[in-house]
Amino acid sequence: MQAYFFKMTTLQEIERRRTFGIISHPDAGKTTLTEKLLLFGGAIQTAGAVKSNKIKKHATSDFMEIEKQRGISVATSVMGFEYKNKKINLLDTPGHEDFAEDTYRTLTAVDSVIMVIDCVKGVEPQTRKLLEVCRMRNTPVIVFINKLDREGRDPFDLLDEIEKELKIKVRPLSWPIGMGKQFKGVYSLYEKSLILFDAGNKQKPESSLKIDDVNAPEIETNIGARFAEKLREEVEIIESVYPQFNPAEYLKGNISPVFFGSAVNNFGVRELLDCFVDIAPVPQSRETEQREVQPTDKDFSGFVFKIHANIDPKHRDRIAFLRICSGVFERNKNYFHVRENRQLKFSNPTAFMAAEKNVIDEAFPGDIIGLYDTGVFKIGDTLTEGSKESFKGIPSFSPEIFRYVNNTDPMKTKQLNKGLEQLTDEGVAQLFTKTLNNRKILGTVGALQFEVIQHRLKSEYGASCTFENINLYKACWISSIDKNKLKSFIQEKSHHMAIDKDNKPVFLAESAWSLQMAQEKNPEIAFHFKSEF
Ligand code: G4P
Repeated sequence: MQAYFFKMTTLQEIERRRTFGIISHPDAGKTTLTEKLLLFGGAIQTAGAVKSNKIKKHATSDFMEIEKQRGISVATSVMGFEYKNKKINLLDTPGHEDFAEDTYRTLTAVDSVIMVIDCVKGVEPQTRKLLEVCRMRNTPVIVFINKLDREGRDPFDLLDEIEKELKIKVRPLSWPIGMGKQFKGVYSLYEKSLILFDAGNKQKPESSLKIDDVNAPEIETNIGARFAEKLREEVEIIESVYPQFNPAEYLKGNISPVFFGSAVNNFGVRELLDCFVDIAPVPQSRETEQREVQPTDKDFSGFVFKIHANIDPKHRDRIAFLRICSGVFERNKNYFHVRENRQLKFSNPTAFMAAEKNVIDEAFPGDIIGLYDTGVFKIGDTLTEGSKESFKGIPSFSPEIFRYVNNTDPMKTKQLNKGLEQLTDEGVAQLFTKTLNNRKILGTVGALQFEVIQHRLKSEYGASCTFENINLYKACWISSIDKNKLKSFIQEKSHHMAIDKDNKPVFLAESAWSLQMAQEKNPEIAFHFKSEF
């Protein structure tokens, strides 16, 4: 009887979890929306807490000073909060495009996404890239169109642009009434209510008026005849142009509901959150090389999607962020580190509640926990209760910028190698070693990482290096069913070959043309732009 009761509780725990991330182009309002969501969840008490916390953190180390100067957030963190009896895990993603790879990895650990779009700017490059990653996994997406208190673009045009540019289907569940100085509020098609905007009062909760439908006479009373008429016309267009909202299609990633609001005014955020807790997916299954792991599977399993260096330079330890995929994680229990083939026990696993970290005794599928790491974890590592299987799906993408690493202090070669190994384990950059001469090449998505790496090598490892530009177009992982062909290709192209951290062969193409030539001349070799294929 007791065992049965325990099982039910675990199931209930799984079912009340909602793990998601917010993505946007920088400046669209991700941080502001995060803060308002945390306010609703009671995880923070005052507006401004998320930002002021960021600044405090920056001040604690030089490394973070780099970010502060550039006004970006490098660190990805997790914020947990409770809302309507749901346990919500919000995974923050760095907005700066140089850290896009970090965001891609974080997206492997979420079950859904909220995408913020600035109504003045519409779809921006970073949104486009991130959404491609969501589409690769059919991650369900809710769209929040922000900054309605500004003179933005026509809402229908925005929806058309989102559909065309991001190749997704949308369905408005709220609709703006006016915009900018004329912004009156939104009509919620989801809740059938009118939510009135009071520009002068950011602190007061928005006033929401339940109505029967869009023809209710209260609409005139509150927003005037002109706006009421326009709203009715537009709602009619919505109902005839867009399909009825079907939550099952949203869960399959086929349709994205759209909300309008103004995060800084805390407007439209409650509707977004209420709908989110209604429709967002519960923890989803994840694939290992052998099988599909269900969250309800009895045995514990999880994977590391992020490693965060301790920002206190006196302590070298790091925190590995682990997404729990199945079973119950328990403190002080032995778990199996699959890649290292050994047992590990964690005495201080942490959970994240907004800005706080707490030691926890147990955690459930959908949760993200922080494990103190003295250097045993790499991104993508799997922990299980004993089974030898690894989760798929945290590939490295071909970097965009490549540089040779030159050691400038030969007395510190060991430290440099250790530092490079650990920083690349964290995913700050990718390390390739040239086959012919063993020269080390770092590859990144953005130039900013090189500064971060140089700085951290010095301050955390006491090693110095300079970087030397190399003209490379892409790093391609190569494979072939014909092992002899693969071997002779590697020999023939030895000047352009390297190995990655896992000793996989990588072809370094100098230009689009040389890549194309290599592909044409070697049809039996497959060229991959990511490390998992
Ligand atoms: P990000 O994390 O996506 O980069 O964006 P963030 O929330 O930091 O917002 C970027 C800027 O947009 C901030 O202004 C923020 O106040 C503003 N903003 C967010 N939501 C709204 C909105 O609904 N309406 C308007 N008008 N502005 C909004 P900032 O001047 O860069 O910073 P701050 O000094 O206001 O903090």
